[in-house]
Amino acid sequence: MMDSDVGAAGAPNDAFRDDVLRGLGGKPRAIPARWLYDHTGSGLFEDITDLPEYYPTRTERALLKKHCPEVADIAGTGHAVIEFGSGSSVKTPILLKAVRPAVYVPIDISGEFLRESAVTLGKQFPDLPIDPVEADFMHPITLPPAAQKLPRIGFFPGSTIGNMVPRTAVDLLRRMRENLSEGALLLIGMDRVKSEAILVPAYDDAAGVTANFNLNLIDRINRELDGNMPRKAFRHRALWNESHARIEMHLQATQDVDFTVAGHDFRMEKGESIHTENSHKFKPRDSRLLLRAGGWEPIREWTDEKGWFSLILAEAAPEPLAP
Ligand code: AVJ
Repeated sequence: MMDSDVGAAGAPNDAFRDDVLRGLGGKPRAIPARWLYDHTGSGLFEDITDLPEYYPTRTERALLKKHCPEVADIAGTGHAVIEFGSGSSVKTPILLKAVRPAVYVPIDISGEFLRESAVTLGKQFPDLPIDPVEADFMHPITLPPAAQKLPRIGFFPGSTIGNMVPRTAVDLLRRMRENLSEGALLLIGMDRVKSEAILVPAYDDAAGVTANFNLNLIDRINRELDGNMPRKAFRHRALWNESHARIEMHLQATQDVDFTVAGHDFRMEKGESIHTENSHKFKPRDSRLLLRAGGWEPIREWTDEKGWFSLILAEAAPEPLAP
């Protein structure tokens, strides 16, 4: 999802402008999280994954190292591995080494990013056919011919599913089922509910990297949408929303502030905020319910000793008769 939203000439993108104008004018104000990931934002996210407080990446990586061989045993050989929103994934090689698929299909809406990572992976796996698809995986996708006749394993790591509200998450899971077909497997990472004392610092680290990641949205708006939002008038807030079981990131005004974006005037009062990201956390039963709502039957679940993160293998089983 990186850098895909600026035209070749660097012209401000209509979708970004529309989302920001609608988001700043909304009640509550909210801007879709995908816009956090411009080039700078993507780099800052990579930095986040190395922070001592940010446990998900290293926890999931350890789970993949430990359990991908079992995924391979269950799946058998000769698969197409389809990765959704492949980004810069450093986790992919762990799965590819274990599963040894016949073809790897990364799907991402950023063509540039896709091609870069295809080249990097190609060097690591010289015998593996890599067939990138530049597409929004929320829409129907035509799989490359090489993948069409093969059994499929979908890969959706990072608890990216948690960035969606349940309704959107279910839409996506159902779409994945359609794109992968009945009988496919899905290997998905889902972050678990845990103590607020662990969760909040993971999204509000001592070094301020996550704050920079969030505040970078202001720089992006100013740069790409001819805005004059004063970055100094905002602070990063990460809070645990118990009812929705999610971490929320907000940009909160630290003073009354007036600004203009793309020719539109806005006013925010001290304490008001712009909601910029959700990161839902799941109890074991929540993840099973969500997957089933999306047409996926969980067949294995692995977690770390602390029970902080889960890696789930699910199957697009034929819909059984239900009473
Ligand atoms: C995009 C799901 C991997 O929600 O944990 C990290 C994004 N935002 N810190 C998450 C994120 C702030 C991240 N994922």
